[in-house]
Amino acid sequence: MRVLGIETSCDETGVAIYDDEAGLLVDLLYSQVSLHAEFGGVVPELASRDHIRKTLPMINDAMQQTGTAPSEIDGIAYTSGPGLVGALLVGASISKALGLAWNVPTIGVHHMEGHLLAPMLEERRPGYPFVALLVSGGHTQLVSVEGLGRYQLLGESLDDAAGEAFDKAAKMLALGYPGGPAIAAAAASGVDGRFRFPRPMTDRPGVDFSFSGLKTFTMNTIRDLSAQSELTEQDRADIALAFQQAVVDTLTIKCRRALEQTGLDTLVIAGGVSANQSLRESLHTMSDAISASLFYARPQLCTDNGAMIAYAGCQRLKGGHTEGLEILARPRWPMDTLPPL
Ligand code: KG4
Ligand code: ZN
Repeated sequence: MRVLGIETSCDETGVAIYDDEAGLLVDLLYSQVSLHAEFGGVVPELASRDHIRKTLPMINDAMQQTGTAPSEIDGIAYTSGPGLVGALLVGASISKALGLAWNVPTIGVHHMEGHLLAPMLEERRPGYPFVALLVSGGHTQLVSVEGLGRYQLLGESLDDAAGEAFDKAAKMLALGYPGGPAIAAAAASGVDGRFRFPRPMTDRPGVDFSFSGLKTFTMNTIRDLSAQSELTEQDRADIALAFQQAVVDTLTIKCRRALEQTGLDTLVIAGGVSANQSLRESLHTMSDAISASLFYARPQLCTDNGAMIAYAGCQRLKGGHTEGLEILARPRWPMDTLPPL
């Protein structure tokens, strides 16, 4: 089965073709980062308009680059939610129109299920069951994964998502957007031990998270330093390092707890923040210590992409899931309401 995947939930347009025999044939990404940079975050209306401009030409490119004729496409998968409603509507409408024109089924994919399954596109892939840490710009969740579509939420952030915290801290430090890679780059020249940030909610049981306190802590640290003199590049690097260490430590502690609590020995990390090198190293150390295995996708499959949507959609289409012609954009869509396969 060959599936065209379309991702338009936020600020990247992703188009990919996945074939369940030949693998990933093409994975094209257009990032709107420069469009939103001057606003310090995603402007939804601008995002929708840019998806309209980019999606069809990118589908054309993907078909041409792989020499795929419309008659060779067996299904179309698009991100149906969660995300920005206008942006989701673009991908959903284009998918329904193409599905009707090509007479193939369409399937709306849950964006976080896409992230969760992205490591399955790698040669070294996890087997079920496993614990998944989903860390993106909008979500921070620990999920027990029994199989495809069989998800049990173990814990989640009560306020900001981990990626959102990175973005906000980077904004306060004037490091630019998106904040994750910017903080990671600045942290590389930070002096270890100059600042120590709290590890929120690690002193109480459970696997929920809270990252908004780190935002306040960052703000106060910047304010105290600025009261003495203007922030230097070294100050920013030192704060970025302390911030990153706090997020990484907190995520590591909760992942260990989730593994111990469920008795599972496989951990999968997915979503934009799972591209973070320091997080990967810390989770490797932790999982080695408790004889667990860690899995993740290559960095470009951790952040938003069309490949994960094509892959997840292919699994659901093969399982017999399809939709009618209704255009389904679901800005809020709890993952544990998904039908099992
Ligand atoms: O999964 P994703 O691409 O989009 C959403 O579904 O939200 O995640 C984007 C988030 C952003 O907050 C970005 O700052 C963060 O992932 N991110 C990172 C890194 N790369 C992206 N955070 C930390 N370290 C990174 N290397
Ligand atoms: Zn995402």
